[in-house]
Amino acid sequence: MINPLRGMKDTVGEFSEKYIYFIENASRIAKNYGFSYIETPILEETALFKRSVGESSDIVGKEMYQFTDKGNNDVCMRPEGTAGVVRAFISQKYDRAGGVKRFFYHGPMFRYERPQKGRLRQFHQFGVETFGVQSVKEDAMIILMLRDMFEFFSIKYSLQINSLGCPDCMPTYRENLVKFLDSIDGLCEDCLRRKITNPIRVLDCKNENCHKLLESAPMLLSNICSTCRADFDELKSILKSFGLEYEVNTKLVRGLDYYNKTAFEFISNEIGAQSAITGGGRYDKLVEYLDGRSTPGVGFAMGIERLIDLVKMPENKKIGYYIGAMSDEAIKQVMHLVVKLRKSNVVHTQYSSKSLKAHMKAADKVNAKKFICIGDSELETKTYVVKDLDTKEEISVELRD
Ligand code: HAM
Repeated sequence: MINPLRGMKDTVGEFSEKYIYFIENASRIAKNYGFSYIETPILEETALFKRSVGESSDIVGKEMYQFTDKGNNDVCMRPEGTAGVVRAFISQKYDRAGGVKRFFYHGPMFRYERPQKGRLRQFHQFGVETFGVQSVKEDAMIILMLRDMFEFFSIKYSLQINSLGCPDCMPTYRENLVKFLDSIDGLCEDCLRRKITNPIRVLDCKNENCHKLLESAPMLLSNICSTCRADFDELKSILKSFGLEYEVNTKLVRGLDYYNKTAFEFISNEIGAQSAITGGGRYDKLVEYLDGRSTPGVGFAMGIERLIDLVKMPENKKIGYYIGAMSDEAIKQVMHLVVKLRKSNVVHTQYSSKSLKAHMKAADKVNAKKFICIGDSELETKTYVVKDLDTKEEISVELRD
């Protein structure tokens, strides 16, 4: 028997029902906020991810599904959605057109991580990206959109925010941080590597010993410039004015290299160790970095597998018809009726003749609201009984009606 690969699973059964419910409603809310759907290829040139997610990230360093295709191209299955959307934004020349573009997307992402609860090798994200808005009001607005989404699905969360500064203030901070890191002994291997490739990622280390060593490290937030500070203060004040609670986490640096200024994560404390259900932030240099015309960007992605168990679906209401046949002749009639009704209704049937009792059982199983059973006498009289399985009310209807 061939099983799915480790860390990958089928979208089927209860999960698939919740999945489609989640996608439909998250998409609806994103559209209300002015986002339109974009879909980019799962396979892209490896260079795209190296240059955006960054060589210093775990994703590029250890987790890519990277291979050489039959045409000798170095390709990679996307580990996240932002890089592809930015690439598409530039490919479509939207950067040259100027103005604002807002996109939402969903689909599978691939990271060769160690699988555990909430951490898969193929997982699904729902994400959005806004291009062309420099104002931090957009950052606030997409965070408020996330609040709407979580409220709709009845998901409890806590929000953490931080500012990662900008190219004006980060270089000096980075120098000071490296000086500090050079002055201490005992950092883990990962931190020693990051000290060279992307020192601020050291702040994010989960190793307890490193945590202690970093207690007296220069703080990111105390070193951002006046523009970044004003933006961060404005973000906080907008969130406050909407009654949205947040925690400032000065160590929140995110695992991807493209961020600047706003960084945020939504956390759930009901799902175990892999508690980040959404991550996002601003990436004002990424379009330019991928050879587009300088355009600010901001967005987020939600991990659908992580939050799906928290999604509350409305009670399963009875819906549509079940139409059964009690003779071979009746099956033909049922097929005609089913095709007609399916133009505007959900209709279940079976292409075999069964007893009334067996059809009733089947109707119950598919949660049908209305029930019709056709046998020889119904064929003769051309009159059917339509039973409402909620109210148990029965009415007689002629075929022509
Ligand atoms: P990320 O933090 O790497 O950010 O991923 C976003 C979310 O995807 C995480 O918060 C988590 O819920 C989910 N996730 C990540 N890895 C896994 C995994 N192995 N298994 C299950 N779920 C996972 C990004 O991907 C950025 N592109 C987000 C973004 C969009 N920033 C700006 N725009």
